[in-house]
Amino acid sequence: MNKTEKPILEVLAGKKPARVPLWFMRQAGRYLPEYRALRAEAKNFLHFCLTPALATEATLQPIKRFDLDAAILFADILLIPHALGQKLEFKEGEGPALEPLTDDKSIAGMKFDISKLLPVFETVSKVKPALPQKTALIGFCGGPWTVAAYMIDGTSRNQFSHAKSWAENRPESLDRLLATLIEASADYLCGQIDAGVEIIQIFESWAGLLQGEDFKRFVIKPTKELIGRVRQKHPGIPVIGFPREAGAQYRDYALETGVDCMSIDQHVGLDQARELQKLKLLQGNLDPLLLAKGGEEMRRAAEAILEKLGPSHIFNLGHGVIPETPPENVARLVEIAHGRKA
Ligand code: CP3
Repeated sequence: MNKTEKPILEVLAGKKPARVPLWFMRQAGRYLPEYRALRAEAKNFLHFCLTPALATEATLQPIKRFDLDAAILFADILLIPHALGQKLEFKEGEGPALEPLTDDKSIAGMKFDISKLLPVFETVSKVKPALPQKTALIGFCGGPWTVAAYMIDGTSRNQFSHAKSWAENRPESLDRLLATLIEASADYLCGQIDAGVEIIQIFESWAGLLQGEDFKRFVIKPTKELIGRVRQKHPGIPVIGFPREAGAQYRDYALETGVDCMSIDQHVGLDQARELQKLKLLQGNLDPLLLAKGGEEMRRAAEAILEKLGPSHIFNLGHGVIPETPPENVARLVEIAHGRKA
């Protein structure tokens, strides 16, 4: 391997790597004591995301501790509603709260103010030169449906009952909201790419709420449009899509959206994963609870994934690192994945 080539970019380009590349969703976060200390410096989570010095440090923290193949920009999928003018708060211990959308008027009145996101682009340009040579920088946004679901319900506490009801009873309103989000997200991703991110990931965390035609109309079609728009400006940018809990619909997502790689959650069995791998490069899918537990159970599960899916695979979790995770377990998992059995 050429020393200047980054293993994760090689795999995304279809080359067979010497070893499986890896990173972890939510690798920067509350399980790290240094993250909690940094977090205490910001007056709230939004301020944290939008202060380049803090967000840069948070992005780099896991890279300083672990031998990872990618850093993920420290930000949040809900910065888009914020830039669309929707009131957003992150309440301590409760997660995010948006002022819920009620009618089409509120959609028509939205104006995307990208200047609110300029600090994110500045973070990208600060992180980039600080990364080790082999480590790629991943930018991201939420999938249009997932962001719409948060905007409509305001929180995830009610299983997105209003968003699901829009899908069923007000599909044209939902289409309009998704169109707004596609346009804003494309500009946001292009801004991240212009500033230096080398891969983008689309987090469709609530893909599993929709089935059948609704999944096609509100997940697949908007994702395809979003990727199409980004590729008009940046044809070569590798895209990872994560339609979490899509179950049997992972197949359609892999075939129809245009992603280069598909991230799968921990409920996808390894036999199903092997089938999906015939269609698309995969990323995943160790259960984050096993990472929190550690020990033999984690090792066995990780080795099963590596053996069945590697090395043309991106090793990751099935969802984000949970706050209870001992950082030593992350270090151990990195060793296992790199084949250094201590
Ligand atoms: O390390 C990384 O992965 C990069 C940063 C990142 C965050 N959020 C930081 C964060 C990324 C990629 C996200 C994506 C995100 N945000 C998603 C998609 C992935 C997923 O988890 O399904 C979603 C749904 C959100 C919305 C969001 N932001 C929620 C539901 C919460 C509260 C839940 C929680 O863990 O507290 C957040 C807050 C948030 N975003 C935190 C972090 C590190 C924790 C807040 C804190 O530190 O106080």
